[in-house]
Amino acid sequence: MKKPSIETEIVHYHERGSGPVVPPITQCSLFTFDSWEDIDKAFDDPINNSIYTRGNNPSVSLVEEKIALLCHGEKAKLFSSGMGAISSAILHYVKHGDHIIAIKNVYGPTNNFLNVYLKKKCDITVTFIDGRDIKDFEDAIKENTTLIYLESPSSAIFTLQNIKKVAILAKSKGIKTIIDNTWATPIFQKPLEMGIDLEVHSCSKYIGGHSDVVAGVVIGKTEDISQIFLEEHAFLGAKLAPFEAWLLLRSLRTLKIRVLQHQENALKIANYLEKNSKVKKVSYPGLESFEQYALAKEQMTGFTGLMSFEINSNNLDDIKNFFNNLHYFKIGVSWGGHESLIYAPAISYLKEMPKEQFEGMGISLGVMRISVGLEDADDLIADFEQAFNYIK
Ligand SMILES: Cc1ncc(COP(=O)(O)O)c(C=O)c1O
Repeated sequence: MKKPSIETEIVHYHERGSGPVVPPITQCSLFTFDSWEDIDKAFDDPINNSIYTRGNNPSVSLVEEKIALLCHGEKAKLFSSGMGAISSAILHYVKHGDHIIAIKNVYGPTNNFLNVYLKKKCDITVTFIDGRDIKDFEDAIKENTTLIYLESPSSAIFTLQNIKKVAILAKSKGIKTIIDNTWATPIFQKPLEMGIDLEVHSCSKYIGGHSDVVAGVVIGKTEDISQIFLEEHAFLGAKLAPFEAWLLLRSLRTLKIRVLQHQENALKIANYLEKNSKVKKVSYPGLESFEQYALAKEQMTGFTGLMSFEINSNNLDDIKNFFNNLHYFKIGVSWGGHESLIYAPAISYLKEMPKEQFEGMGISLGVMRISVGLEDADDLIADFEQAFNYIK
């Protein structure tokens, strides 16, 4: 028989035969052994043996194997959140006094971890670049640059980096690379195949997909993941609980069909918004009008459901009325779940700075970030239709 495709391997977890169709949850904190010799042997290979659940647990390892397969990576390690995975992956590659290159629109807490925390604790410096042009990376490299951190598309304004070109450049200079691949998911983008060293995800988004799990994962070569297991994962202790891993296994079975549906809905909505006179601009890598559409088509095989658009008004009352009168788009910060969500970045910015300051950064009051869910797309469009009536 031919080697099973990844989709088949994700759905199946054991050989044909009697037994539960869904694996049980190994809900325990430790594992016992038959003898001195047996526990002694397990300690010889803590990376591949279940001894204590802070390290390994079969419910967690099973999902790690499936995610590694899906990403075409050698090994994966799950964490209790995307930030647990991201901070561990970064710490794995840097030391005191190093220099990091990161894209300027990277996820906010990642930005703070790099720019505030690592600077304060480890004297690490960061150069934030636009990243759309490979020259941005070339110009930013210093003698002590050890890491390039990507997020493509970025979850804030969806700009892309040319992953293959960055990987080639980094390798030629002995610099390590990490990419946050949460937006595209392993279904639509395979950065490890393009030469990136470590891929990270917030599994709280599409991989989880049901808005009931917070988790993260790092995928890469066995050597890197094993060291992360023994150091950052072990010392910082951000392990994923067996039940949450079991929920992720449930989610993985439908990941492909879910993201395909998110894509179909998102494309319909992006096209609708683009034609609407009350909308100034739509930012979505799946639109032909998107500035980096050609690169998006080159390095991704599809598009998910997070996008933003700008309302053609600067009247805060009108904008608030639109926002508050949507029915299906619930108000919330995360994304990638079954439910459609809306958030206005101005809510956060207005707390931190005067309106004029963030407008100077090119972000207007009317920018809306939406996560298009799995509802009927026509219902979502009808929801927008009625809410747009609040904009004069
Ligand atoms: C692009 C991106 N990366 C990472 C994270 C962090 O993931 P988590 O919330 O699971 O820690 C988020 C969360 O919103 C995100 O949007």
